[in-house]
Amino acid sequence: MASQLSFTPITDFSLPSEKFPKPPQRIPIFSHLPLNSCSGYHCFKNISSSIRLSVCHAVKEQEVIQSINSDSTQNSQIDPPACSKFVLVVGGTGGVGQLVVASLLTRNIRSCLLLRDPEKATTLFGKQDEEKLNVWKGDTRNPGDLDPSIFEGITHVICCTGTTAFPSRRWDGDNTPERVDWEGVRNLVSSLPSSLKRIVLVSSVGVTKFNELPWSVMNLFGVLKYKKMGEDFVRNSGLPFTIIRPGRLTDGPYTSYDLNTLLKATAGERRAVVVGQGDKLVGEVSRLVVAEACIQALDIEFTEGEVYEINSVQGEGPGSDPQKWRELFKAAQVQ
Ligand SMILES: NC(=O)c1ccc[n+]([C@@H]2O[C@H](COP(=O)([O-])OP(=O)(O)OC[C@H]3O[C@@H](n4cnc5c(N)ncnc54)[C@H](OP(=O)(O)O)[C@@H]3O)[C@@H](O)[C@H]2O)c1
Repeated sequence: MASQLSFTPITDFSLPSEKFPKPPQRIPIFSHLPLNSCSGYHCFKNISSSIRLSVCHAVKEQEVIQSINSDSTQNSQIDPPACSKFVLVVGGTGGVGQLVVASLLTRNIRSCLLLRDPEKATTLFGKQDEEKLNVWKGDTRNPGDLDPSIFEGITHVICCTGTTAFPSRRWDGDNTPERVDWEGVRNLVSSLPSSLKRIVLVSSVGVTKFNELPWSVMNLFGVLKYKKMGEDFVRNSGLPFTIIRPGRLTDGPYTSYDLNTLLKATAGERRAVVVGQGDKLVGEVSRLVVAEACIQALDIEFTEGEVYEINSVQGEGPGSDPQKWRELFKAAQVQ
């Protein structure tokens, strides 16, 4: 059954005359086709009787197990396969998003992606059982792409969408900060069921100071202003939320790699994590650390309703140890 929509009235938000003009395309990932036997395109063509798209084989179980032992996950506590979470990742092909998805897969957490180009999931995440990962085609700028059926059963959302702060090819088709960081976030949040247990939004440091130097330079095309508007919409949505504001992102994006490469990614020397509140932090943060912070925040009850800035610096970090992350988030709140 479709989840209930909880649209918040928005004065400047023009919905299409027909709310969901096309049925949403759910594109779960088949698990029985070898990588070299098909491109994503051919998989689409060959399975015409189904709306399901195959994402081709790229990962061997043994390699995943080895990767779990890599230094990026050395302290990890892997959830049991029967985990009750069902996490929607929006922006799962991006630098942070890829790492979030790879990490959810190694933890055996059931996940779902909303992507503009589902074939990217084929390249990045390889063969996956549809019980573990499925993919919907959608653009957050289009409310019509956000059919309630996409959100059925979703318990948690991690939103790491974004575009470049300055004009670039990534703005093609009007994919600007205003459209993605404001309208896209607004559309997504407006579509989420009220039963959601948590939405984690990746925003940015500096959003509260976009009129002040040096942030005003970064904000020349409005990226910080629009991210703040997206944040405020999340905050006022009534949904349980956590906002993560990274400093300048390092490590990655690991574009054009497959899941094995993602799982072997490490934060290099920058593993020690600094968490703050009040938009005072200035610095850099590894994308791996941001991805881990998003996943950890889902389970730490006192991060609900909170906003954190996050940096990473040289030194030993918390890895995936939930207790260490609890301490980091808690320490930020009492400062
Ligand atoms: N770069 C920095 O130094 C920095 C600093 C602070 C905060 N941030 C923020 O941190 C977050 C993660 O950054 P990142 O560099 O990892 O991101 P990224 O690589 O730019 O990835 C952005 C993701 O958003 C998706 N996306 C873009 N427009 C979309 C749309 N209209 N509908 C649906 N999905 C859309 C992209 O999908 P496609 O594959 O379809 O393009 C991609 O998956 C972003 O919000 C970014 O603004 C970045």
